[in-house]
Amino acid sequence: LFHQNTYLVNGELKAWEGDTAEVYSTISSTPEYKPTLLGTIPQLGEKEALEVLDSATAAYDNGKGLWPTMKVADRIACMEAFVEQMKLKREEVVKLLMWEIGKNLPDSEKEFDRTVEYIYDTIEAYKQIDRSSAKFEKSAGVYAHIRRGPLGVVLCLGPYNYPLNETFALLIPALIMGNPVIFKPAKHGVLLISPLLEAFQSSFPEGVVNIVYGRGRVLAAPIMKSGAIDVLALIGNSKSANILQAQHPKGNRLRMVLGLEAKNPAIVLPDADLDLAVDECIAGTLSFNGQRCTALKVLYVHESVVEEFNRRFAYKVDQLKFGNPWEEGVKLTPLPEVDKPAYIQELIDNALEKGATVLNKKGGETCKNYIFPAVLYPVSKDMRVYEEEQFGPVIPVIPFSDIEEPLDDMAESDYGQQVSLFGKNIHTLSPLIDTLVNLVCRVNLNSSCQRGPDVYPFTGRKDSASGTLSVHDALRSFSIRTFVASKDN
Ligand code: G3H
Repeated sequence: LFHQNTYLVNGELKAWEGDTAEVYSTISSTPEYKPTLLGTIPQLGEKEALEVLDSATAAYDNGKGLWPTMKVADRIACMEAFVEQMKLKREEVVKLLMWEIGKNLPDSEKEFDRTVEYIYDTIEAYKQIDRSSAKFEKSAGVYAHIRRGPLGVVLCLGPYNYPLNETFALLIPALIMGNPVIFKPAKHGVLLISPLLEAFQSSFPEGVVNIVYGRGRVLAAPIMKSGAIDVLALIGNSKSANILQAQHPKGNRLRMVLGLEAKNPAIVLPDADLDLAVDECIAGTLSFNGQRCTALKVLYVHESVVEEFNRRFAYKVDQLKFGNPWEEGVKLTPLPEVDKPAYIQELIDNALEKGATVLNKKGGETCKNYIFPAVLYPVSKDMRVYEEEQFGPVIPVIPFSDIEEPLDDMAESDYGQQVSLFGKNIHTLSPLIDTLVNLVCRVNLNSSCQRGPDVYPFTGRKDSASGTLSVHDALRSFSIRTFVASKDN
């Protein structure tokens, strides 16, 4: 059991003796389903929320504080000290990733390693920015020394599906650009931050990193209502982002870096390599049980190949192995949200009532906190599984005869993150790509949707995102261009 009994404020790991909450894993250690108690976390209140806010605002001191004015090399030294200590915690964090969110071992290791790599890449990108802004350059008759400066105090809220990696994709660039941060770990994946607390505490100056525990609503409301937050950095849903933004008394001043919902489609054209399309759609729909904002959430398959696609796809879904995250070859794992299987069942029932069938034999079978992925066909737009961002193991397949059908659906959608396009004929693909890039931000040719590699921009249109998060883009998202102008060199 892991009892987290401190929180990080004013550079101190402050002891907490008040209310605590139990943290459970939905991985059951007994044959009958019983969640496993993993530990406890503090339930901080409004007083502590305002305490961390004071800590962060003092560290920023309206731009005059130690952190925003610190030399680039010194800020980098803090980040390097942190990542060196973080690397020592790999085993512990990976184990907690498996227990807390049910991510399988290879993906948990990948999440940790990708995060370490992301930190090193961020340091390099930051050095590049610094080098490129090192001297005065003349333009339009004026010498200017262009720099990038911090924005202020950042409230950082990450998601449960990447509680380390995506949270750090906000936290690390925010910090290195000179912004102090208040960070609340995700509900699932909260304990895995604990092994890193001392590294945060010892690597950064007082007040620069503040870590709180408790209910998001209780902690975030007073922080937002204070008006002292300059940037809301959130990966989650647009409902939460809207509530938080509305709480800020100077909402127009608040900058936001948001990664929100998506319902990425795959479009399978008549000439697609079906084996490739099936494999990529399996990875796209079911990696981490479909709990990825980049997951494929609807498969549009041309009517001339849909029958064959469905046969191969349904067969392969049934071959996927379900088990505990650390077991060899396991692709499907227990879902961290205890009510998720019931919700997925509702979506399946709703689709069946409206005329769809489950194509795969195991579709909808339940086992402890798991429901086996169901492939639903034919899905229509009046079904909940089409309407809702379901973030789980259920796969709607829609046949189409005219490419305008999926294009129209995408155009009408509230989301616009990515699409996967499967086909071979470049004369067909090329004009289609030109349209698709205006509907989403990334077109994946003959491959599933994904965020990485992290050198590429990760963003979305409409309700899917605000701001961009590649290694380089994130540094820009958490900073502002400033310059010194002079008539003389
Ligand atoms: O949940 C959204 C993540 O950005 C997905 O990232 O494509 O690397 O799995 P990924």
